Amino acid sequence: MKIITVLGARPQFIKAAPLSATLRKRHEEKIVHTGQHYDYQMSDVFFEELGIPKPDYFLGVGSKQHGAQTGEMLTGVEEVLLKEKPDWVLVYGDTNSTLAGALAAAKLHIPIAHVEAGLRSYNRKMPEEVNRVLTDHVSTLMFCPTDQAVKNLSLEGLTKGVIRTGDVMADALYYHARRAEERSLAENLRYPKKSYVLATVHRAENTDNLNRLQGIINAFAQIEGQIVLPLHPRTKKLLNDHHMTIPKNVEVIEPVGYLEMILLEKEAEFILTDSGGVQKEAYLWQVPCVTLRDETEWVETVNTGWNTLTGANPEQIVEAVMNYRNKPLPPYRENLYGNGRASEEIVAAMEEKRG
Ligand code: UD1
Ligand code: UDP
Repeated sequence: MKIITVLGARPQFIKAAPLSATLRKRHEEKIVHTGQHYDYQMSDVFFEELGIPKPDYFLGVGSKQHGAQTGEMLTGVEEVLLKEKPDWVLVYGDTNSTLAGALAAAKLHIPIAHVEAGLRSYNRKMPEEVNRVLTDHVSTLMFCPTDQAVKNLSLEGLTKGVIRTGDVMADALYYHARRAEERSLAENLRYPKKSYVLATVHRAENTDNLNRLQGIINAFAQIEGQIVLPLHPRTKKLLNDHHMTIPKNVEVIEPVGYLEMILLEKEAEFILTDSGGVQKEAYLWQVPCVTLRDETEWVETVNTGWNTLTGANPEQIVEAVMNYRNKPLPPYRENLYGNGRASEEIVAAMEEKRG
């Protein structure tokens, strides 16, 4: 089979790392990098650290308004697909790069495989929700990482081509955990174990709404102890543009590579985040998580008691932190995201569909 993988944003590089390696054992894959993320610490570092093959096509679209960004990607991906004539187009998650890849393929009648299908927040104001709903509805195969995702698709009438697999982010974590831990032994951990709280904030709903961003910062100021904040460039820009002050207990660092990030997660006392991927990784490491959003697609992390939704409300954030500090942690019963073989399951399903 010949597969064109379309990616462009940080979490997609991490998701692609295990699947690309598995695909290339038996098939031809070419990678199209849209250029949605382009800073070294948002893109190249992942290709280097995770051994992802160099992209065959780099569209260099960069940062733009949604329409312009998605439109330029669509044009660029279409050109590649016309030239390459692949059997499949593979897309990941819910970014503008995902939607552009899926739309370009759908118009050319090329089957689409969507990894991380079926996730829903039921909040159509999120750009991610629009991207994932549209992508699922033009996909031939929808790889769902959770039972909830399968149910969500079924509620929209999508049952054919829906396959429950493990989660490729768990594949990546299991595969690289040892390397990350070895690095910490070699280089000494930057912060002593469990001496800090790890935080990430980048979602549009938090950064583009100054009240919410200020609410999160106010909560950080009230939390006892050091908070380490690898800062997404989007958030950095908004904090600078609006001259917002970072509290003294918050150490802002540049975005970090994957190996450093998963180690920072593992050794954190707990995690504050609005990231999708980081919520899951917190669960996989058995580190409690406070999610700075009003809803989550990863509902099972909340149902098991390892994740608390607080929105951007300072009182609720501080209360969730106090609860984790003062009450025993819930029992850890199950690995919700598979045993690290999602990539193999996905490739096998694509092969079977092709016949
Ligand atoms: C995108 C995804 C989001 C995902 C996130 C992962 C969409 C609509 N959103 O959000 O779902 O959670 O990636 O990190 O696709 N910037 C830089 N350097 C970079 C990249 C971005 O400075 O390498 C800055 C620019 O100011 C840019 C802003 O970040 O305007 C936002 O980047 P963009 O890719 O549009 O959206 P993200 O917020 O990164
Ligand atoms: N991540 C990273 N360095 C950072 C922040 C995040 O390597 O400084 C990783 C994180 O471990 C996870 C993924 O990026 O695997 C999550 O991506 P992000 O939070 O950008 O997007 P989301 O998952 O919310 O779409």
